[in-house]
Amino acid sequence: MFFRHLAAVRSGVMTGPRAWHPGGVNLADSAFLRACRRQPVPHTPVWYMRQAGRSLPEYLKVREGVPMLTACATPDLIVEITLQPVRRYGVDAAIFFSDIVVPLKAIGIDLDIKPGVGPVVADPIRDAQGIEALRPLEPDDVPYVTEAIQALTGELGGTPLIGFAGAPFTLGSYLIEGGPSKNHDRTKAMMYGAPELWHALMERLSGIVLEHLRIQIAAGASAVQLFDSWVGAVAPDDYREFILPHTRRIFEGVAGVPRIHFGVGTGELLGVLGEAGADVVGVDWRVPLDEASRRVGPGKALQGNLDPALLLAPWEVVERKARDILRRGEAAEGHVFNLGHGVLPATDPDQLKRLTDLIHEHTPAT
Ligand code: CP3
Repeated sequence: MFFRHLAAVRSGVMTGPRAWHPGGVNLADSAFLRACRRQPVPHTPVWYMRQAGRSLPEYLKVREGVPMLTACATPDLIVEITLQPVRRYGVDAAIFFSDIVVPLKAIGIDLDIKPGVGPVVADPIRDAQGIEALRPLEPDDVPYVTEAIQALTGELGGTPLIGFAGAPFTLGSYLIEGGPSKNHDRTKAMMYGAPELWHALMERLSGIVLEHLRIQIAAGASAVQLFDSWVGAVAPDDYREFILPHTRRIFEGVAGVPRIHFGVGTGELLGVLGEAGADVVGVDWRVPLDEASRRVGPGKALQGNLDPALLLAPWEVVERKARDILRRGEAAEGHVFNLGHGVLPATDPDQLKRLTDLIHEHTPAT
């Protein structure tokens, strides 16, 4: 059954995943999916990047003594952690608990996630031989992803599940640099200095990313987000030449569900990101949503864009800014409220609960 379904997703026939899920709810009516499709909503939908994570005491408790990548390969833990923020905040979407490097680990790349550091790669990829090591991803490489998502679709009821993957540039940066990087020097050195190698790497990564998203959709994800967190380091012309063709291929390959495209520091890239094929463009806190809407162009919904650090300020400050974002978000054809980047570990969960309730009181003018 699953493989027949995956074939349908691959061929583009499959659209609403839970049209297939037995006993499934009609999720198309959810505020989140409606906003992604630029349809009228009863209230502005809201979820938070990194909503499941170290700001939640219940997360810290279940993660005690369990390494990050072990947690990402354990269906019971994935299901529990994905549900935690939905229970606590009543957000309009769940995001699958995993990490962008999971599919790379699954095809045999020697890497780990170091606490307080991030992904670290044992043998960074710097030549054609390294690129050869990136074999295609198969559903059998990530059985825990399929198993966890199938369980989640039952548990979540009417709340949509967002599947995700890292984008080729951001994944490529971790693979080439060997770990987190401030300026992505070696990454850019390959991009500018060895374009054939660069495109070969991007092509392999796009194939893996596309398959990983399709596996999540086939299992029951209702939308997908592509995290190109570090792409803000690149100029628009270079984005167009070195990255856009690969991102386009990914979005074209998952056209059946709403697609969200997110990066940090992308103010100058919003126009070209609008050309990559997503339905929703994520905006960080640096560009107000009305201006972002102008830059992205028509036919897109926006997602964002409260500065995560603002949640460390008193509630009155958060409230004032959130109301301003809701007002500016009305300039967009659809608005999914979110932070401009992930929840910081020091965030008080009560602030996020209050913020969620405030956003739910808002009905955008149509
Ligand atoms: O959003 C969610 O709640 C879903 C889970 C999720 C995680 N990582 C869990 C995680 C998602 C969507 C990601 C994506 C991810 N991972 C990105 C793109 C999003 C972004 O924040 O820009 C990136 C760049 C990574 C790579 C990565 N993994 C980093 C930089 C870190 C932080 C390292 C640290 O400890 O400071 C990780 C680890 C990670 N991924 C954690 C979580 C909850 C923290 C580790 C832990 O709890 O032990």
